[in-house]
Amino acid sequence: MSGPKLNITDSRTGRSYELDITHSTVPAIGLRQIREDPEEFGMLSYDPGYTNTASCTSRITYIDGGKGILRYRGYPIEQLAKQCSYTEVAHLLLNGDLPTQSELDAWDTEIMEHSMVHENIKKFMDGFLHDAHPMGVLVSTVAAMSTFYPDAKDIASKRNRSRQQIRLIGKMPTIAAYAYRKSQGHPYADPNWDLGYAENFIHMLWTGTRRQPKPAQSAVLAKALDTLFVLHADHEQNCSTSTMRQVGSSHADPYVSLSAAAAALYGPLHGGASEAVLSMLDEIGSLDKIPEFIKQVKAGERRLMGFGHRVYKNYDPRARIISRIADEVFEVTGRNPKIDLAKELERIALEDDYFVKRRLYPNVDFYSGIIYQAMGFAPEMFTVLFAIGRTVGWLAHWEEMMSDPELRISRPRQLYLGPGERTLVPIDQRLEEAQEKVS
Ligand code: CMC
Repeated sequence: MSGPKLNITDSRTGRSYELDITHSTVPAIGLRQIREDPEEFGMLSYDPGYTNTASCTSRITYIDGGKGILRYRGYPIEQLAKQCSYTEVAHLLLNGDLPTQSELDAWDTEIMEHSMVHENIKKFMDGFLHDAHPMGVLVSTVAAMSTFYPDAKDIASKRNRSRQQIRLIGKMPTIAAYAYRKSQGHPYADPNWDLGYAENFIHMLWTGTRRQPKPAQSAVLAKALDTLFVLHADHEQNCSTSTMRQVGSSHADPYVSLSAAAAALYGPLHGGASEAVLSMLDEIGSLDKIPEFIKQVKAGERRLMGFGHRVYKNYDPRARIISRIADEVFEVTGRNPKIDLAKELERIALEDDYFVKRRLYPNVDFYSGIIYQAMGFAPEMFTVLFAIGRTVGWLAHWEEMMSDPELRISRPRQLYLGPGERTLVPIDQRLEEAQEKVS
């Protein structure tokens, strides 16, 4: 084949090889032909944490981490966050284009009609202890939904896949709200189809409780939550989305696949970071304690949670938008004093050589928890809110993968460094050998 090539010379054998270059990548399988001995398996690339491996092609989200650019299907995140609702963005991510008004109306109706959960799901959720972490509740409940919708196993049908996608987008806020109400000891509230996606979520969270916001307050909170869902909707092959693809590649149904993705999100290095940021701010406590904390981070004893990113080596564009949302939310909720601590932490870190050299900037999770806390959420709910927004991203990648002719089960290789063949010692002799070694 003509076109650009990568030439490789193996210094062990002096043999040269040519690999085709497509979109600045080379096929890893092309390395397999490189071997010192014909009996050898062939060369592999070694990439712990997949820092330099493209596992798939995708047409959903583009990130330029050096320039701080994020686009969904070509549209800059700044424009989407300002002008579109979450369900509009969900349509864009899943179907490839923004909907017309009539398409959006039909799409919204369909999603809302799927917001109700089966009565037995409520009973299932009742089984958790009152202090169960809502992410544990969410992960388990989504997995359990696989047993409520056995039709989801028909993953070959695009129509059937779409039905499950709508179900999941519709039901995630309901499960999230029920996990919250359960933790508060409140009865579950039915969804209200006449409300918008985020408005209905607020309704299910707080209706009939002392936290129920006044209508004017509710509108601001719904707008802020909706924008936060847009900002979290997708982020290409992050840890949880890769998990969705990995599990889905075995043809598991979308409920168990999405549950696995949510489990990956739960970790403090991923979506759990917003909860960890709040614990960190609580621990620091006051402005005068920041220098000592930064000293511990620089000594490698701690991580500055909400800072750093695998892809962004510049300001995360989502963090910039979130810090603006904070001001709008504080107007109706009152100011969360933690914002002063966070801003000072950011100022000091951005001037410090340690962070500058490593190009560590605030990420999406640095300010989101402060807003969520001002809205009245306990830190344990922060990752659940992230999961609601990210649901559509997980599903869009699952859909893209299911219709990808290159789809194969995910099955990485390993570099085996363990012992060579050993002869098994019968159990009665093993003890004697150990005793001999000791004596
Ligand atoms: N605080 C202090 N040092 C850091 C941090 C941090 N938050 N992040 C990275 N570093 C240092 C790290 O110690 C390493 O230094 P050195 O080269 O001296 O060993 C260097 O920066 C590169 O870090 P890395 O761990 O190789 O980077 P990574 O790409 O493997 O990890 C990360 C990315 C997000 C896991 C990491 O930056 C981190 O742990 N951040 C804090 C947790 C966090 O905020 N996570 C949310 C990520 S954004 C939203 C999401 O994906 O959910």
